[in-house]
This record gives sequence, C-alpha cells and structure tokens, in this order.
Amino acid sequence: MMSAAHIPVLCQDTVSAVCGRLTSGIFVDATFGRGGHSAALLARLDANSRVLAFDKDLEALAVGQKMAEQDSRLTLIHASFAELKMALARFNVHQVDGIMADLGVSSPQLDESARGFSFMQSGPLDMRMNTSKGLTAAEWLAQIDEESLANVLYQYGEERYSRRIARAIKQAGPLTSTGELAEVVKVAHPKWEKHKHPATRSFQAIRIAVNHELDDISAFLPQTLDVLKVGARLAIISFHSLEDRLIKQFIQHASGTTGQEDAWSTAPVKTLKKIARIAPGEAEIKDNPRARSAWLRVAERVGPLS
Ligand SMILES: C[S@@+](CC[C@H](N)C(=O)[O-])C[C@H]1O[C@@H](n2cnc3c(N)ncnc32)[C@H](O)[C@@H]1O
Repeated sequence: MMSAAHIPVLCQDTVSAVCGRLTSGIFVDATFGRGGHSAALLARLDANSRVLAFDKDLEALAVGQKMAEQDSRLTLIHASFAELKMALARFNVHQVDGIMADLGVSSPQLDESARGFSFMQSGPLDMRMNTSKGLTAAEWLAQIDEESLANVLYQYGEERYSRRIARAIKQAGPLTSTGELAEVVKVAHPKWEKHKHPATRSFQAIRIAVNHELDDISAFLPQTLDVLKVGARLAIISFHSLEDRLIKQFIQHASGTTGQEDAWSTAPVKTLKKIARIAPGEAEIKDNPRARSAWLRVAERVGPLS
C-alpha cells in the first residue's frame, strides 16, 4: 500500500512556541517523522542555525535523508529521544535553544500494513517503530502472561474489557498478523464503541508496550533540563492522557507549582516555567482528524539546576 502523507499537527503553534523570539540557534526535533515540524522550524531559522532531528524509525530517516542533503542545517539522528544527552554529545552539542517533540506514531507507520500497526489492513504483527531491535508485537504477546497482558490493555488502552480480551488473545495461541489479532479482539469485545474499531484500544496499548513509549518519555523529560539553555523552550505534543499526564506533572514539579507525590517528586524545582497549553482549533481538526486528541504543552527553562 502507498505510504500516506503525514500532516503535522499544531505545526506553526509548535514552531512559534519553541522559538519564542529566536530566529537563530541550535534546536532539537525529538520526533522527526516525515519532517513536517522540522521543515517549518528550518523555514523560520537563519542560515547559521542547526536542527538535530531524532527518530527511532529507520524508514522515517531514510525518507528524510533527501531533506538533509538539501539543507545542511539539518542533522538526522537514529536514536530514541530517551538517549537525548548522549546522542547530542556525539555531535558535540551539549546545550540547545529549544526542543520540540510530537509524540506517538506517524500516519505512514499506522497506514502501511507491512509495519504491523494497522487493524484496518492485515500485515505482520510487528508494531516496532525501531525495526532494528526489540520484540515484535507477536513475540511480545507470546511471552507475556494473561494477567500482565490484561493490565497493559487496561492501563495503556483504558480498555474496560481487558481481562476478557487478554484471555481470548492468549487462548488463540501464536498470532502472526494484525488481521488475526484484530479479529480475536473483535470477537471477544462485548461492547463496541461508536465510530471506533473494537480493537483500537488494544492495539494502542500493545503498541505503547512494545515501543516502551512511556519509559522513553520518562527518560527524556529530565534530560531536557540539562540540555536546554536558560530561556530556551520545550514544546511537546501528546495524543493521549497517559502521555499528557506525565508531561503535565513533570512541568508542574519542575516549575514548583505542586507538592503532589508522583513519579516526578524529585525533579529539580524552579527549573521550568509553564508557558502554555494549546489545543488545535476546529478548522485544524476538520482538515486533520488525527489532531483531535492533541495537546501542546510549552515550558521555558529558568534558573540553575538545584
Ligand atoms: C507523530 S510522528 C512525528 C511527525 C513529525 N512531527 C512530522 O511532522 O512529520 C512521531 C515520530 O516519532 C518517532 N518516535 C516515537 N517515539 C520515539 C522515540 N522514543 N525516539 C525517537 N523517535 C520516536 C516515531 O517513529 C514517529 O516517526
């Protein structure tokens, strides 16, 4: 199947937010994808600037190679943003003027059946963003026990019928295609939601687990404090409540506006200032339905590390 184009979400808002008043500097795009946000950022920046763009997905970087050849300000890095500091250090970059991230999966990843993310077209049950390492979804499902699988479906997919679905998946035996998995979930699911494939939540949960998505975000956020210059901006787009909660709580702790006990209780305080929380407008959602669940959170690096 032909690769679908990826329409960048909240593109100008993100670029304006991450730049603030700057038109020059060194910036990070933590999630290059098809390069929509990087291109808009480069368009705003002067000839002396640099954009270092990360992606776990070799296919994304292969497509982006042409853009990097045409614009020497762009450097593509095949790494997880969980390795932010180490990967930047390899390019002798230790401080940057802004970091943006657009979390989750890209449209080509979701739509190309061969990548194994899709319940709409059957493909090999893979779901890895980085196909060069880690367990495929098929391997991951084969090694997880029923109870742990139910917990993943419940926590990462907010799937109410997690136990029933986990039982059906484990009873089905080795599954090798997304079509088989979608069918098992569909049959096991007792209550289909309107306008939603019954396997949507389960696929989301398994994808998050296979790609360690929340672990990567948790590793990434504290590193941004070390890398951002004072006055530099962090702009992150998230697409579901689990991601958004992690980012919100991190910004709250780093800005010293909460005393709540959570994963970020030990984050250094007064290191970030909350700038904005932006949602797409109706017109953007109409043009790009993928934008409907997006939230952009923006914070600015302040003060020394405590
Ligand atoms: C929503 S897309 C980004 C789209 C991009 N902003 C654009 O305009 O084309 C998310 C991208 O981030 C990548 N990604 C997700 N998690 C990552 C991680 N931990 N490290 C690096 N890249 C990651 C995915 O492979 C995917 O290509």
